[in-house]
This record gives sequence, structure tokens and C-alpha cells, in this order.
Amino acid sequence: LSLRVTIRIPTAFEYETLCRSVGWTEEERFACMETALACSLFGVIAEAGGELAGMGRVVGDGAMYFYVHDVVVSPRHQGAGVGKAMMDAIVARLLEIAPPGAKAFLFAADGKAEFYRRLGFEPSARGMSRLIADFRP
Ligand SMILES: CC(C)(COP(=O)(O)OP(=O)(O)OC[C@H]1O[C@@H](n2cnc3c(N)ncnc32)[C@H](O)[C@@H]1OP(=O)(O)O)[C@@H](O)C(=O)NCCC(=O)NCCS
Repeated sequence: LSLRVTIRIPTAFEYETLCRSVGWTEEERFACMETALACSLFGVIAEAGGELAGMGRVVGDGAMYFYVHDVVVSPRHQGAGVGKAMMDAIVARLLEIAPPGAKAFLFAADGKAEFYRRLGFEPSARGMSRLIADFRP
């Protein structure tokens, strides 16, 4: 099956389709996705056999800190190397644009730490996060 990985930010339609395919259906996500996508540093889109197969995106300051988010492969394309190909493309792009000393971060979903560890990411004991505000429609 032909796999094509392109460096570009997902469209809102691609973003929503892929999120829903893996059960990421919180409305908060879709309410702000246009801004979130537009403000991303770069993204990646995978097509397999001409079909939308996956996405990922990178946010950050473009120099010191880069955060990898929303890495998703649709269930029908999982386990076929799509996720790894997208992460390889993300890491290759980071190597091109990031100056010495820059750091890439991500939060691994449950059960996915090993997938990212193989790509050179190491668990950090001190990572912290909080919800900033509850969603008010
Ligand atoms: C996690 C995800 C992106 C992996 O994508 P994928 O296309 O299925 O993974 P690949 O086929 O490219 O796998 C690459 C390698 O990682 C391994 N791998 C994949 N998922 C893994 C997991 N959960 N734990 C351990 N290893 C894993 C594969 O076995 C493969 O190993 P190999 O190179 O030795 O064959 C995908 O399963 C997904 O989108 N899941 C739902 C959404 C999600 O949880 N995203 C992560 C957010 S942090």
C-alpha cells in the first residue's frame, strides 16, 4: 500500500475526522481547533492508498521549545508503520529547523510510551499540566 507523508498542518476537517476515528470526541477540542491549527508551527499528514491515514502537529516557540501533539493514525491504518513514518518526518523537520539545545516534548497517551521511546523520547518524572478553564459553551 502506498504511503505518503507530507509536511503540512491538517485542515479542520482532517483534524476532526481523525480525532473522532480514535474516540477523541470532546467538544472543547473542536470548538477551538481552527485557532489551534492555524497557530501550529507545522504538521504532518499521512495518506495510505490515497486515503487519509494519520496526522500529527508541532506547537511551540520555533526555537527553544517544541511540543508534539495530536499524533493520530486512524484505526484501519494502525500497526502498518504510519505512526512511525509520521514521527520520523516530524523528527527530521525538527532536526532541520531547531537550533542546538532546542528540546522536543510530548505527552504519551496510555500505553503509547514505548512507541515514543523507540523514537528517542524519554519519560520525564517532572512533567506537569493543568486544565486552565472548564468549557463553557
Ligand atoms: C499510537 C499510534 C500513533 C501508533 O501509530 P501506528 O501507525 O499504529 O504505529 P506504527 O505501526 O508506526 O508502529 C511503529 C512501531 O511502534 C510499535 N508500537 C506501536 N504502538 C505501540 C504501543 N502502543 N506500544 C508499543 N509499541 C508500539 C509498533 O509495533 C512498531 O514497531 P516496529 O517498528 O518494531 O514494527 C496509533 O496507534 C494511534 O493513533 N493510536 C490512537 C491515538 C493515540 O493514542 N495517539 C497517541 C497520542 S500520544
